[in-house]
Amino acid sequence: MRVRGKHYKTVWMNARSVFLIDQTLLPFRFKIVRAATHRDTCEAIRAMTVRGAGAIGAAAAFAMAQAFAEAPPRGLEDYARKARQRIESTRPTAQNLFYAVKRVFDRAVRSRDPKKAAADEAASLARKDEEDCRRIGEIGNALIKDGASVGTHCNAGWLAFVDYGTALSPVYAAARGGKKIFVYVDETRPRGQGARLTAWELRNERIPHAIIPDNAAAYFFSKKKIDLVIVGADRIAANGDAANKIGTLEKAVCAKEFGVPFYVAAPTSTFDPGCRSGEEIPIEERSEDEVLYQSGPGPRGKEGRIRVASPGSRALNPAFDVTPAKFLTGILTEKGILRPSRENVAYLFRGKENEKTETGKTPAQV
Ligand code: MRU
Repeated sequence: MRVRGKHYKTVWMNARSVFLIDQTLLPFRFKIVRAATHRDTCEAIRAMTVRGAGAIGAAAAFAMAQAFAEAPPRGLEDYARKARQRIESTRPTAQNLFYAVKRVFDRAVRSRDPKKAAADEAASLARKDEEDCRRIGEIGNALIKDGASVGTHCNAGWLAFVDYGTALSPVYAAARGGKKIFVYVDETRPRGQGARLTAWELRNERIPHAIIPDNAAAYFFSKKKIDLVIVGADRIAANGDAANKIGTLEKAVCAKEFGVPFYVAAPTSTFDPGCRSGEEIPIEERSEDEVLYQSGPGPRGKEGRIRVASPGSRALNPAFDVTPAKFLTGILTEKGILRPSRENVAYLFRGKENEKTETGKTPAQV
């Protein structure tokens, strides 16, 4: 994706270092940070310097490769195993993280040259993420008519992946193909990924859009202003239930009531056949400070935070919710558009019935 005329990926690895666009500073400052060790990369994931399912997955793959590169020749596997646990405990919901770490770890421990195998596998996962997202854009473009208005929640654009994004990839493909489109961007409290990141991406791409309050979607649906909604996903269960940023569920329920098509866009690396339904998807609980305070540059441009809630009150902050498959019109993947059902998700994993998933079950056992 271009920023000030230059092409960037969200996360990449060079030699033993991982480089990341610092998403905590956007849209006010554009800064690349370097994570020199796997512990630094873990901290970047935990602190949401890098965020979004695919970008977290790529960063986790690179962290695993860094750990193999750092490991002493004796006790290499033990070092890598501990690093794997550390990486897997950074954030619990995005399936791409667990998928990527397992892929890199398994390939490395089976290889005669684990350090090289880990680096190669991580690089190949990052390339696959990018390619899947590009393909999702091509496929999803067909859903967007010239003149359409698209709603989206949170940020599932290029910042949430290595490049292109999922929910926004069809929007970019449509705009580049000359279609006139307008995007309604939910602000996505409490961290404001819509207002801060999606709006910034769309502005870079010169795509007309407006940020709307999180509680305004039903109003715009009722006024027939939004033709379709496309959101991302952090984990999709075997029955098609999809976990995504908190607030997605209520948008999907409202969209159904008003007859607005509601799509989830995600690569197959976001599916977790080890979760039978959305009930089994772990939901991250984040600090109440994200609800009680807002941060940004003050009048002199210095980053700071202010309290926006009544002093003394506590807050609850679940970061994700699960939208049952029945509210989804379709799931947009790199392999095509799926009607969400257990049979259709199983079809994606055909031929892999005996392969163990990250949760230790095989798709056939689910
Ligand atoms: O907490 P985040 O910002 O890492 O959340 C992930 C998300 O950006 C969203 O849930 C998104 O819609 C799906 S991730 C591609």
